[in-house]
Parts: sequence; structure tokens; C-alpha cells
Amino acid sequence: MYLQHFGLKYPPLGKEATELWDDGALALLKQRFQWLLDSPGVGLLTGEAGVGKTAALRVLTANLNPHRYQLIYLAETDFARLDLYRNLAIALGLEPAFRRAALWRAIKARIQELADGRNVLPVWVIDEAQNLPVEFFRDFPAFLNFAFDSRDLMTVWLLGQPGLAQTLDRAPYAAMASRIQVRLRLVPIAERERYKHLIEHGLQQAGATHTLLSDSAMELLRQASPSLIIVGLWAPIAGAGSVRGETIEGRRVSCADCHDTDPSDAAHASDSGGTEWAVLQDRAEAIAAAVGELASVQESPVLAAARSFAAR
Ligand SMILES: Nc1ncnc2c1ncn2[C@@H]1O[C@H](COP(=O)(O)OP(=O)(O)OP(=O)(O)O)[C@@H](O)[C@H]1O
Ligand SMILES: [Mg+2]
Repeated sequence: MYLQHFGLKYPPLGKEATELWDDGALALLKQRFQWLLDSPGVGLLTGEAGVGKTAALRVLTANLNPHRYQLIYLAETDFARLDLYRNLAIALGLEPAFRRAALWRAIKARIQELADGRNVLPVWVIDEAQNLPVEFFRDFPAFLNFAFDSRDLMTVWLLGQPGLAQTLDRAPYAAMASRIQVRLRLVPIAERERYKHLIEHGLQQAGATHTLLSDSAMELLRQASPSLIIVGLWAPIAGAGSVRGETIEGRRVSCADCHDTDPSDAAHASDSGGTEWAVLQDRAEAIAAAVGELASVQESPVLAAARSFAAR
């Protein structure tokens, strides 16, 4: 409904976008990604929730030649350690053995067969890797040593939130950390101009043919949320203000429920380090309240999402 209302084909900055906005960070990732295909090994990509890790890997892996690479994407990581290897075994077309030793042997044989017989490299992408059981990080290096002897025959990308990098820097995981050949961190786009380009790119990709967001609405979004998922959801509703000739800013200030409506507080909070969720929630609440007053989108799932974010 709301998409139709704003003339959009799909939610801006959503999964459907095939072309990501980039002014350098993704180009670097692309280069490192290719490097790990040419010399297989382990890569670590971290970044705040919603910064674009999954989207970046989705785009990078979309055009992999299936005759050369077998992509194995694992999104569920709430597994026990052995289940991860079972999952890998199944993805490689094996009947997963019950015991660890047999499981590892079968995976090793299969990966070697793929390399030597068919010149195929498995690319294992483990998303949400911050949820992996820590025992996995302890024994994965042993698996890599066992499975690959002297040659590395599989590329593994671990994607996770920044805490993952910190975990892996701790002493018990030194062996794992030493296996990581590429480490990259995606950071949220915070600068005003870059942010504006990113959001406008997202809106255009989604089919917007005219300006949906006033400058003040854009600014409010920028200060409200580091997560592009949330921003993508909010962008059209925040834009409702511009479409109707009202600025979201004006609505926000008149919103009785918002205890703190001064955007400079949010900027200040992020300047002083650490995300101040309370401030961001106020901002979210302000947006939810303001757009809630713009009646035509009141019942949209978008608004529900903004509200639930505000309540987090
Ligand atoms: N550079 C970009 N250009 C356009 N859209 C983007 C870009 N980066 C991310 N997005 C969009 O923002 C949304 C959030 O990105 P994504 O889900 O990849 O974040 P994430 O870092 O994987 O978050 P999480 O840690 O919660 O899994 C996605 O819908 C994605 O398509
Ligand atoms: Mg993700």
C-alpha cells in the first residue's frame, strides 16, 4: 500500500536492490573478496547491525561462476558446534556422519575431490557469526589444518557485528585469529553529503521519480538511526511530510510525546563515543509520532517497524 502511495517498486534500501551505493568501502571489499578467491583463506567482515554486510556479500557472490565456485551460505548460526559441520557436509552433498572424526574426514575428502577433480572452490559464507558457539572458534583452526594440510582449498567469510572481532582478539581464539587473512570493517555512513547520496540512491533504485525527502527529513533520519534497514523503512514515511508540503521537522517539534527533540543531542552523543540508544530511541519515537500524524500511512507495516524500533 505505502509503496504504491509513494510510487515505489519495493522498499528503499531493501533486499531487492541489486546495485549498492558505494564511494570506496565496497570497492575495497570487492578487491579483498577477489583476493581470497585467488588465494583461498579466511576473511572477517564486521560492522554494526544494518550497515550492509549481508547486502555486500550478496552482491559480491551473485555473479560467482558456478563452474568454479560453490557458494555455501549459512545464515542460521544458532547451532551447536557439530551442527555447523553437518550443515557444511549437507551443502557439499554428503550424508552427514554422526561422529566428528568421520564428519571431518568426509568433508575433507569431498573438498579435495572438488579441487582436484573439478577445479571447484567452496566459498562458505557464515552470516551472523557473532552468534556462533565459541567452541567453534576454538576448533575451527584444527579443522582447517586437518582438512587442508598444506594447501587451502576453501574460502570462508565470517560476517558479524563488531563484538565478533573483539572476541576473536582474545587469547583463547588466537589460533583462529591467526588464520584470518583479511579483516575489514564496514562503518555507517555518517557524513551529511554521503548519507544524502546513499539515501537518494536507495530511493531512486526503488523507483522514486521525484524528491521524497526534504532536507530536514533527511537530516532527521541521519541522526535517528545507524541502521540502513530502519532508514530504508523510514525514508518513505518521513518523506510523507515533504509530499504533503509539510516538513517532518515541524511535526516533530510539535509532538507532545517526545521528551527530547533536539537533534544536536544525537550528534553530540555519537561524537562523545558509544551509541546512546536512549537518544536514538527518542529520535525514533519522534519520527514514529510525527509520521503517525500523517494519516495516510498510519497503519502501514513501516510505521509498525519504526515503532517497534523505538520501543527497543
Ligand atoms: N551501500 C548500500 N547501498 C544501498 N543499500 C544498502 C547498502 N548497504 C546496505 N544497504 C541496504 O541496507 C539494508 C541493511 O543492510 P544489511 O542487511 O546488509 O546489513 P547487515 O550489516 O547485514 O546487518 P545485520 O548485522 O543486522 O545483519 C539492506 O536492505 C541493504 O540492501
Ligand atoms: Mg546481515
